[in-house]
Amino acid sequence: MKIKSLKQFKMMLTPPPDKSITIRAAILGAIADGKTTVINPLMCGDTVSTFNCVSNFADLSMDGGNIIVRRKKFCDCVMDAGNSATTARLLMGVASGRNNVVKFVGDRSLCSRNMRSTVQPLIKMGAQIEEERCPLTVKGGNLNGIDFVPSSPSAQVKSAVLLAGINAEGVTTVTETVQTRTHTEDMLKNFGANIVAVNSVVKVSRSELKGQDVYVRGDISSAAYPLVLGLLKGFCRTTNVCNKRRAIIDFFTRIGGDVTEIKKGEVSDIITQKSELKPFQISGGEATALIDELPLLACLAATIEGRSVIKDAAALRNKECDRIAVTAKNLSAIGVSVTETKDGLIIDGKSDVNYSGAIQTKGDHRIAMSFAVLLAAKGGGYIDDDKCVEISYPSFWELFL
Ligand code: S3P
Repeated sequence: MKIKSLKQFKMMLTPPPDKSITIRAAILGAIADGKTTVINPLMCGDTVSTFNCVSNFADLSMDGGNIIVRRKKFCDCVMDAGNSATTARLLMGVASGRNNVVKFVGDRSLCSRNMRSTVQPLIKMGAQIEEERCPLTVKGGNLNGIDFVPSSPSAQVKSAVLLAGINAEGVTTVTETVQTRTHTEDMLKNFGANIVAVNSVVKVSRSELKGQDVYVRGDISSAAYPLVLGLLKGFCRTTNVCNKRRAIIDFFTRIGGDVTEIKKGEVSDIITQKSELKPFQISGGEATALIDELPLLACLAATIEGRSVIKDAAALRNKECDRIAVTAKNLSAIGVSVTETKDGLIIDGKSDVNYSGAIQTKGDHRIAMSFAVLLAAKGGGYIDDDKCVEISYPSFWELFL
């Protein structure tokens, strides 16, 4: 796909609904008693994978644009999580608590991803799992609560343990040293689980969930792409964005971005305008909070005069592809001075250089979208796979029409 370099970018849009929330709403609805309505769900590659998986043990139907979920009997089955690690990991937690045998399969990218950090605590709780990569079989049932301190931050791993914990004997405690997104504990609470979350400590015990209405708001990780175009090329206003995960708003402000947030309860309009940006360092908890945005921010760094450093982001190596290696390779291919480190990237950006060339996405949606933004803001070029954006942001290319 050819990306033209843009003279300017001026746009107002509502980003697609939140992927993490849609996935969790479908899963909790599928194990809850009664009816769950997922209002304004995201329809994309990953969420369709979730819907397919939960269809093994729940009835899903469309009502207008909403999805109605009602549980059926849990059963032995094969769950194909496609490209979605969130779907696979959360459902591994669910399957661990059932007296069933569930096989998890996925696409090539998912099957290459290490699941050890999810498998280990589930085994400790009593699940039988032999493999560390999909295809992987979970033989569940008779779980015990555990005290779990994740060795590296992951909302997916935390969520898998909490979802096992609602079917375990005793209390399951997850203590995070770096807090990750709280969507699972928040939603479990709304669904009536026995759960208490104080700062980074979450305690859960056996629970019967009650179906709920879940309204899904705009995904801030998707909004980040046009918002960066606003910072680089003119103006962008994203509306109805879920403001629970706010790290990107604080980050844009910290690096000198002209950002305005208009907060209306749980949603915000976020406005960015062309700005003089400063090089930056991202590390520690900020790297965790911005984990999905880091390839985009590495691309942004290429346009800012001076050295930017991203570290403490080793988790990027176990995403849809090795996002550190693939980002470095593509930046280098279009003329950016970049050094790959074990847990991040060092980028020596130039504000007055036009980067151009061909991008190899490895089928990774976030690589495709991040480099599309950089090429559109700079010299234009080519993206080898335009279809992969379907995984999280099917209407992404409309930004460039
Ligand atoms: C997600 C958690 C993050 C993130 C992913 C979505 C979630 O993964 O990268 O896109 O919905 O819980 P990790 O938990 O592996 O950090």
